[in-house]
Amino acid sequence: MDKILILDFGSQYNQLIARRVREMGVYSEIVPFNVDLDYLKDEFVKGIILSGGPNSVYDTDAPHIDKEIYNLGKPILGICYGMQITQYLMGGTVSPSDKREYGKSTLTIAKDDVLFKNVNKESIVWMSHGDHVDSLSNDFTLLATTPSAIAAAKHNTLDIYNLQFHPEVTHSEFGKNIIENFVDDVCHATKNWNLDDYIEKTIANIKETVQDDEVILGLSGGVDSSVAAMLIHRAIKDQLTCIFVDTGLLRYKEDQKVMDTYQKHFNMKIIKVDAKERFFNKLRGISDPELKRKAIGNEFVKVFEEEQKKLKNAKFLAQGTIYPDVIESVSIKGPSETIKSHHNVGGLPDDLDFKLLEPLRELFKDEVRKVGLALGIPENMIIRHPFPGPGLGIRILGEVTEEKVDILQRADNIFIEELEKNNLYNEVSQAFVVLLPVKTVGVMGDKRTYEFVAALRSANTTDFMTATFSRLPYEFLDNTVSRIINEVRGINRVVYDITSKPPGTIEWE
Ligand code: XMP
Repeated sequence: MDKILILDFGSQYNQLIARRVREMGVYSEIVPFNVDLDYLKDEFVKGIILSGGPNSVYDTDAPHIDKEIYNLGKPILGICYGMQITQYLMGGTVSPSDKREYGKSTLTIAKDDVLFKNVNKESIVWMSHGDHVDSLSNDFTLLATTPSAIAAAKHNTLDIYNLQFHPEVTHSEFGKNIIENFVDDVCHATKNWNLDDYIEKTIANIKETVQDDEVILGLSGGVDSSVAAMLIHRAIKDQLTCIFVDTGLLRYKEDQKVMDTYQKHFNMKIIKVDAKERFFNKLRGISDPELKRKAIGNEFVKVFEEEQKKLKNAKFLAQGTIYPDVIESVSIKGPSETIKSHHNVGGLPDDLDFKLLEPLRELFKDEVRKVGLALGIPENMIIRHPFPGPGLGIRILGEVTEEKVDILQRADNIFIEELEKNNLYNEVSQAFVVLLPVKTVGVMGDKRTYEFVAALRSANTTDFMTATFSRLPYEFLDNTVSRIINEVRGINRVVYDITSKPPGTIEWE
């Protein structure tokens, strides 16, 4: 299958590039910037995109590439850092700067080119760069400018293009056209990436790999593990056993929903482990967020291992690993630090004695959802907001108790119900309630109350790395808060979190 490779120089946007290409029906992969040149020479590689990145080409540890890449005869599109490294290696001058240009700018096309087919002469583009190209290599011709930068250039004899702005970001008005023009008219890549074929091929592949053996899978009810389970179940039916651990930290009646959907409706073999007590015991007395995450993660692994030992014939362990997980584990290390240890419940240690089965390894989240819908999973189980592995354990600030989980589940359910009722659920990216370890005084009827405070959190984001709070209507908030206070015993005050990310994170712990 024809493909476009994206060389990863550490930009937070490179997944967007890969998705834009796939949305056009052309398969794309993100590979480390220093991937072996032989990998790029493959005849199916129809073009290469050099991504942006946080470095300056002058940094001592800046990611550099072999200049030979430009002689492979493959079309190349260098974006931002990808442009700077190209100019740096091919004789242009790049100026370091201490100030980043970040935000919208106006692109003016100076010379017509197939790259700008269906692009207005003037348009808005998104800039995010420190260094900039001062003068182009003599081998390049200027194609476009912004008021402050050389914005686009093309090699005089080879299919090598450079862009200082980010066409993959939706703020770049014609960015999608520019990427499409590169893939279609410069690379001439065939559009044969489609999910129906993927489903068929994957099912055939699973049958062939597993043969008569048995497979186990940790089903969390989340989108990834559910879609993985459905695909595998289609392929091998009862040779798949799912283990569903009820940690006691799931959403309201989630255990029932998962069992109803996947066991009753789809006839999957599911072992439900009621481990609530174990988790609550482990969490007793712990308030520190990181310790809670670790306690939950470790206990999950223990429960899972115990169950898996009982299934003596299982040779395969299936996981809902998706493409962004794969990329993140191979990507070059940017300057970003670990803010929280994202311990995914379901993220199991490597030393289990199994062969891994990961049928979603090549898919982005939106593709996983489409596969799920195509396999018949109900829409409400697929188009769901993300839910963190440690569950409500990190939405109850301070010590977690069964009583607090019960309070939070009820309040959270009301918030979600109201969002759905008012057609707002799909307008926000993630919404939930957080229970604070603080009690305040209130008055209900003629009585003084002294109960917990809850916070509503609702964020809008495309990538979950930056987010803004959702501008929910006051009337909606008013109704939701009244319902929570009237219907949930234990909460007498509700606040709405209007912190952006950064500086806040989406979750509170
Ligand atoms: P933060 O709070 O870091 O969250 O802004 C970004 C996104 O990640 C989710 N999240 C997690 N997901 N395991 C997960 O599977 C975790 O430990 C975890 N912590 C945060 C969070 O819900 C949001 O969607």
